[in-house]
Amino acid sequence: MLKRLFVCTCTSARSRTAAPREAEAIGRLHPWVGEMAAYSFGWCEAGGAPATTAAGGKGLRPALAVLGAEAAGAPSGAGVTAAVAVELVHTFSLLYDDIMDGDPTRRGRPTVWKAYGTGPAVLAGDALFALAVETLASAPGAQVPSAVRHLSTGLNDLVRGQADDLLFEPRPWTGPEAVRPDEYRAMAERKTGALLGCAAALGAVLAGAPPATITALDRAGRHLGVAFQVIDDLLGIWGDPAVTGKPVHADLRRRKKTFPVLAALGTPAAARPLARLLDSAETVETLDEATARRAATLIEEAGGRTAALAEAHRHIAVVDSCLDSLPSAPHTADDLRALLSFLARREM
Ligand code: IPE
Ligand code: IPE
Ligand code: MG
Ligand code: MG
Repeated sequence: MLKRLFVCTCTSARSRTAAPREAEAIGRLHPWVGEMAAYSFGWCEAGGAPATTAAGGKGLRPALAVLGAEAAGAPSGAGVTAAVAVELVHTFSLLYDDIMDGDPTRRGRPTVWKAYGTGPAVLAGDALFALAVETLASAPGAQVPSAVRHLSTGLNDLVRGQADDLLFEPRPWTGPEAVRPDEYRAMAERKTGALLGCAAALGAVLAGAPPATITALDRAGRHLGVAFQVIDDLLGIWGDPAVTGKPVHADLRRRKKTFPVLAALGTPAAARPLARLLDSAETVETLDEATARRAATLIEEAGGRTAALAEAHRHIAVVDSCLDSLPSAPHTADDLRALLSFLARREM
């Protein structure tokens, strides 16, 4: 299976130049913390032995960083620095997210908190974040403070999105307190779109590109983020854990307000049986596998799956229109569009 996204796009060689920089940065950590960081990147097993199976991420953010920098006409060094910084931040955010969501598996194996414990996983996450700041702060050029500020702003937005994601969990499925689709969109744009926007624009910021180019790249990344999150929600209900590497139905169990469920509940015919079923399982423990499967069927019958795909495609169309306003060379635009079409069809 193709694990790194850039392996299947023309960004291959360009994005891959980020990996040695990530490895070098992680090599400077405390050995135990470095081992956890290497484990989270899929480079070793728990305990430190070399990895026996491929367990890395897709590499979407580094690919986007390299392509975004190219689209802005930035030097390749700016794109690679941005790629390393955003992938370190992404990995840090996943370590924390798995603790918040209580998820036991990611990238096909135990999450860092499951393999090493919560405290150590927090420490490894902090180290990855510190390395991301260091990577950016050590880059050459006068725009470094702007780039650090850009990353911090994006990260603060991610925190806002994660906060809303958690605060949505105890909210009811129906009635005046229910989470509305526009609240979902704002949450997804922050928790996922902010970092994708940052990835797309960071190289341009580092290279001092015009504000209009930076804004277009950030906007493209944010819409891509909403599309990406909606598809992630969909895979969390109907995906194959052997392919996604993550648990299925975990979002339903935690009462996560994911897009397919909100869309299904928006159709009056489906709202009652589906809401009754979801409300019958008040806690994580009470939503057993059979109930989760029944909920997935009801969501699909009520059009939640189709509506989610349509929502994702709407956001991808906005990304496409943002690309038109960029000064990119034709091959960069082609690569960005290849990335979009991969993401629209992704099963992992
Ligand atoms: C997972 O992101 C977190 C979300 C924003 C949905 P990815 O699906 O890009 O994670 P990896 O890096 O490929 O594992
Ligand atoms: C991930 O959101 C967003 C961040 C890590 C900031 P999710 O919780 O929906 O992503 P997965 O499904 O665990 O990867
Ligand atoms: Mg999660
Ligand atoms: Mg989460």
